[in-house]
Amino acid sequence: MQVVLATDFGAPSVLRLAERPDPVPGPGQVTIDVSHAAVGLIDVFFRQGLFKDQPGSAKPPFVPGLEVAGTVRALGDGVTGLEVGEQVVTMSDGSGLGGYASIYVAPTSAVVSIEGRGIDPALAVSVVPNAAMAHVALTRIAHLAAGERVLIHGALGGFAAAFPGIARELGASRVVGTVRPSKLAAAASTRLPYDEVVDSTDLLRVLGDERFDVVVDPVGGQLRADSLAVMAPGGRLIASGNASGQWDHTLDTNQLWFGSVAIAGFNAGALLPAHPEVIRPALEAAVDAVAAGLGQTEVDVLPLSEAAAAHERMENRSLSGRIALMPER
Ligand SMILES: NC(=O)c1ccc[n+]([C@@H]2O[C@H](COP(=O)([O-])OP(=O)(O)OC[C@H]3O[C@@H](n4cnc5c(N)ncnc54)[C@H](OP(=O)(O)O)[C@@H]3O)[C@@H](O)[C@H]2O)c1
Repeated sequence: MQVVLATDFGAPSVLRLAERPDPVPGPGQVTIDVSHAAVGLIDVFFRQGLFKDQPGSAKPPFVPGLEVAGTVRALGDGVTGLEVGEQVVTMSDGSGLGGYASIYVAPTSAVVSIEGRGIDPALAVSVVPNAAMAHVALTRIAHLAAGERVLIHGALGGFAAAFPGIARELGASRVVGTVRPSKLAAAASTRLPYDEVVDSTDLLRVLGDERFDVVVDPVGGQLRADSLAVMAPGGRLIASGNASGQWDHTLDTNQLWFGSVAIAGFNAGALLPAHPEVIRPALEAAVDAVAAGLGQTEVDVLPLSEAAAAHERMENRSLSGRIALMPER
């Protein structure tokens, strides 16, 4: 099979095409003929070696990529409920990489069928896994209730873009996104189900007196601190990323009790292996949301051989949606 290898930690140029033996599925696994592999900022962080000192973190050479769409190629022992040739999407259960490849091995617990649902596979891989994570974050971490108001930072980003559809599905009464000024024009024409998208650099002024029950924050840094002032008492902020790159930013925890608000972390890679029971309902809710048109994010498709260019685009921020890589057959 064809793969993209991260041959070292470093610049996008460490990503090279290579050949590897075709894998066979073990018990409880399936192999998937990959039609599309998602590219996420997390892949960039792995390639840069940002997490290299964390226990169990991949060391070069490794095949990046956490999520794929494609068709089932073969079933491992004991697998039921899936058929060879069925269209599927995977989400990462926190156990491995390997998505930038023409064949992917997945545990069936992290695979969901999209057969007959009328979902484009490039859109499916771009939205379904993140929407499943959004479902877990909004139900288990934020305990979103019907009628609550939700604010989502980095609103067009790959991860964040999956939240408005799930928030709607769960009955949120209002869903507002925030972006930096350079993305306001793209936000004006987004088909994602936001009521409004506002400037994240001028939060207090643009939001006026409006207060939110749940804030989704994959951006971090100063924006996380600014968010505390726009939360309603009883509000919950989900700290779920650091796209800002402000790794040293700190928060004054006195602000939490002054405002009677909470901050909870969400990291699928940590939570899902510990609570695998949340994966199946989340994947099904995600497919329903995308099939209902609630995840209409922009997707650019590039050949697998252009993985380095895809990472450059993630890094230089010339993107208002997602990139999916397509193996050449
Ligand atoms: N918790 C989890 O389980 C989980 C899962 C997936 C991803 N993540 C995390 O979520 C974050 C976003 O990942 P992604 O794949 O969605 O990335 P992405 O598609 O690049 O989106 C990141 C968004 O953050 C915003 N942003 C604000 N300041 C930024 C800055 N200085 N540099 C870059 N972006 C900035 C950008 O929106 P504007 O330009 O509009 O502000 C951008 O749309 C990452 O930290 C990733 O590790 C977490």
